[in-house]
Amino acid sequence: MAGFIFALLFSVFGQQIDVPACVPYSGGYTKPHVKVLDGLTWEIYGVAHMWAFEPQDITVPAGITVNFYLTSSDVVHGFDIVNKGVNLMAVPGAVAKTSITFDRAGVYQIVCHEYCGVGHQNMMGKITVR
Ligand code: CUA
Repeated sequence: MAGFIFALLFSVFGQQIDVPACVPYSGGYTKPHVKVLDGLTWEIYGVAHMWAFEPQDITVPAGITVNFYLTSSDVVHGFDIVNKGVNLMAVPGAVAKTSITFDRAGVYQIVCHEYCGVGHQNMMGKITVR
């Protein structure tokens, strides 16, 4: 148990990996869109479905904090932003939430890491940070 608690605290504070949260589900999360709250914070409402993420190609400015709200419209999918420590599950009827700051410009790939059917290997998305 001590090892688990240490690993959790090390991930959050040492690696600055956000622990995902679940928020109450409503139909408002089933429409993929990007919402700009202010110059420092954006919200991305993502929907996973066979076999794509929507919105598919997102461009955000460097330095802002992005709050992701993620759900699925069909089966369970994975959501991994490669090399950014974001690892969520997209579950129908549930919403996963996490926050991330993109400090550097670049292209960040999103991949599905949960087998979700014959098109699983092609299920990808992209975040471009400028
Ligand atoms: Cu979606 Cu694998």
